[in-house]
Amino acid sequence: MTTTQTNSQYYFDLEEKYGAHNYHPLPVVLEKGDGVYVYDIEGKRYFDFLSGYSALNQGHCHPKIVDAFTRQASKLTLTSRAYYNNKLGEFEKYITDLFGYDKVLPMNTGVEAVETAIKLCRKWAYSVKGVETNKAKIIVCENNFHGRTSTVISFSTDPQSYTGFGPLMHGFEIIPYNNIPALEKALRDPNVAGFLVEPIQGEAGIIVPGEGYLAKAKQLCEEANVLFIADEIQTGLCRTGKMLCIDHENVKADILILGKALSGGMMPVSAVLADDEIMLTIKPGEHGSTYGGNPLAAAVAIASLQVLTDESLAQKATKTGKLMRDELRKINSPLISEVRGKGLLNAIEISHYDKQAAWNLCLIMKDFGLLAKPTHGDKIRLAPPLIITEQQVLESVDIISRSIHAFGK
Ligand SMILES: Cc1ncc(COP(=O)(O)O)c(C=O)c1O
Repeated sequence: MTTTQTNSQYYFDLEEKYGAHNYHPLPVVLEKGDGVYVYDIEGKRYFDFLSGYSALNQGHCHPKIVDAFTRQASKLTLTSRAYYNNKLGEFEKYITDLFGYDKVLPMNTGVEAVETAIKLCRKWAYSVKGVETNKAKIIVCENNFHGRTSTVISFSTDPQSYTGFGPLMHGFEIIPYNNIPALEKALRDPNVAGFLVEPIQGEAGIIVPGEGYLAKAKQLCEEANVLFIADEIQTGLCRTGKMLCIDHENVKADILILGKALSGGMMPVSAVLADDEIMLTIKPGEHGSTYGGNPLAAAVAIASLQVLTDESLAQKATKTGKLMRDELRKINSPLISEVRGKGLLNAIEISHYDKQAAWNLCLIMKDFGLLAKPTHGDKIRLAPPLIITEQQVLESVDIISRSIHAFGK
């Protein structure tokens, strides 16, 4: 068999036999992406309602990002940070100007940026706040998702994430999400250095906190001399209708974590932003990454950020997101117990005795031409690229509606 083989089963079998079994994909083999669409090996077209878990806010293979990628790829891709390159500084200036911070520390995957933020926060606690060595604590929230490294799963509350991977890392206190009294109480400990929070909990099923939660949390952190660390890896970069989700409450994080759409789906690019008092606590040799800050990533990230602003994707996400929720709420079915979200980060909650219902519904939607995946069993995330048009939203909701009615038959 060759790679031109067009039988999906062939590719399912290859991954089953030779790949680790750490994912459970929908049974579809994709070979092309263009804007809001992806195409399988038989040429069938689908709306992509996962967008690479929000890495593809700008759409698949955005021509300006592809252009930046190919130009830079044919010139210089990696220098390591042992040398300077002529793209990194430009990216650093661009992103710090855009978000209003003194400095940025570039990494690759999202979880590496979370790790970086944790290390930075601890360094700041010891060298600026004056916490006794190895006593620093970071407050996190129940049902968080910040990635998959051993440190980050150490403060997960999802047994699937941490079971069997111990011993786990100390130094984290878990409090309920969207709960100000719990935060107030946890902040009384003088060893607390940071509060790490997702502005909307994505993996948990698009859990939107109450209005004012983030602003109040930031104010309490400030009063307690604790760093407010926003993980905007999924919620940031226009996904929720603002450049950052915390912008909805005019909050500025002390440490801002970005990833995913920072490269428009081209390659792993992540970043941590902070002001000098925090960022300069890490000295040469104390942290780094071979690929972090490579010139290819820098060129791609500048182009990806430019597309977000040039195409007003935040405003578009606000408008099409509202339309999507309004139209979804018109679907008259007992199968949908809730429609929620912000901008184009939305979810429907499925109410059915069968635990496989959300998965089965996704299979029907796939047959009708829309790809989405359940998260935490009964929730289906609906997060298309932000370039989706109003007409395409209507077409997509029609597919979802027809799928729900087909499911009921
Ligand atoms: C909020 C949040 N933080 C961190 C991560 C981890 O990012 P990555 O998978 O690129 O390591 C994710 C990924 O889904 C995320 O949603």
